[in-house]
Amino acid sequence: MLGDFTYYNPTKLFFGKDALDNLGPELRKYGKNILLVYGGGSIKRNGIYDKVINILKKEGKNVFEDSGVMPNPTIEKVIEGVKIARDNKVDFILAIGGGSVIDYSKALSVSIHYEGNDIWEKYYERFEEPTCKIVPVGSVLTMVGTGSEMNCGSVITNFSKKLKIGHVFQNEEVFPKFAILNPEFTYTVPKYQMVSGIYDIMSHILEQYFSGTDDNTSDYIMEGLMRSLIHSSLVAIENNKDYEARSNIMWIATWALNTFIAKGKTTDWEVHMLGQAVAAYTNATHGMTLAAVSMPYYHHILPYGLEKFKRFAINVWNVDPTDKSDKEIALEGLDRMKEWMIKIGLVMNITDLGATKDMLEGIVNSTLVMAGGYKVLTKDEIREIIKESY
Ligand code: NZQ
Ligand code: ZN
Repeated sequence: MLGDFTYYNPTKLFFGKDALDNLGPELRKYGKNILLVYGGGSIKRNGIYDKVINILKKEGKNVFEDSGVMPNPTIEKVIEGVKIARDNKVDFILAIGGGSVIDYSKALSVSIHYEGNDIWEKYYERFEEPTCKIVPVGSVLTMVGTGSEMNCGSVITNFSKKLKIGHVFQNEEVFPKFAILNPEFTYTVPKYQMVSGIYDIMSHILEQYFSGTDDNTSDYIMEGLMRSLIHSSLVAIENNKDYEARSNIMWIATWALNTFIAKGKTTDWEVHMLGQAVAAYTNATHGMTLAAVSMPYYHHILPYGLEKFKRFAINVWNVDPTDKSDKEIALEGLDRMKEWMIKIGLVMNITDLGATKDMLEGIVNSTLVMAGGYKVLTKDEIREIIKESY
């Protein structure tokens, strides 16, 4: 484990079929005014809303609602939500949903007591830390993938600027206080969203795995997580109510992005930068944007990280290395990953996500360049990768 680091994660997890029983006791630690944040209505259709409302009533809470949080939540929506929260003097934000609802709730939490009117610039352009009181957030997770339930990231989109930006806050108060993880709450997620979430998890692990050349325990943990994810994903696409598979996927998602596997790693995140630029132009589903750019990106950087791609092929995809060159082994690993991606139903190009040729230059310009992976991309390389992703 190279480098010095601190590991601390303050989010308390409640996992399993009865996890929601812990909501009442947890909420007793906070004030009376609860802002219930949710998306477009799936929680009303699947009954989670009623279950939560009953608990809130029993606990004697005053409930205020902020609904309609869209996938890829926008800065305009955040500004509206801040007003609702201020008007009702909320003490606690309860996010019920997936990454969009939780990310949005974190954006509210750092903005409600902030007096400036430059929330976007402060948090998503200048990446400043909150200087005001942070309203605590708790979550009931209904869609698996982002890891937002146990991290301090918040991704917000500014369509007028054609930017989708994630801020990983450094202030531990931004981590959700608790997360309720009941795999059964994810059964009603449509297949498209489920597999998108599965690839988001895979991508989070790969973004951290494909960096560094040292012998690092984090890499061994990641290989185990990926093997489990691949196995459970194949079960889940056949039977989306397989508790074992859905619960494994839920648990892997949380550990894939709660800072644990990043320890000792420089980490890449370029696939996310490419995917987020595509989303800023198309508003496409997060995991699908990552899937659509991954193959061109990984083929591009493979020569710079050949040893690691070879290890990935053997340890994750069971490629037999006998009588093959390092490059052949590495390429076979990527081929197996591609087969798996197609098999679970991922979108493999950005055209199918709504990207048109006239967006090319804009997407290139919206792509941030990261320095922790095997190759720091030039603008020309980004253009090549995006072109190959059409
Ligand atoms: O809005 P509703 O009606 O609830 O429907 C949602 C939404 O349409 C639906 N859904 C969620 N739970 C459901 C359900 N439908 C039926 N049954 C359920 N139980 O699923 C759709 C997608 O939800 P969303 O929250 O957008 O998905 P996801 O969890 O993938 O979140 C995506 C957002 O998180 C960001 C992404 O960029 C994107 O904005 N990310 C956040 C990260 C973080 N905080 O660390 C990291 C990630 O890399 C990612 O960037
Ligand atoms: Zn992601």
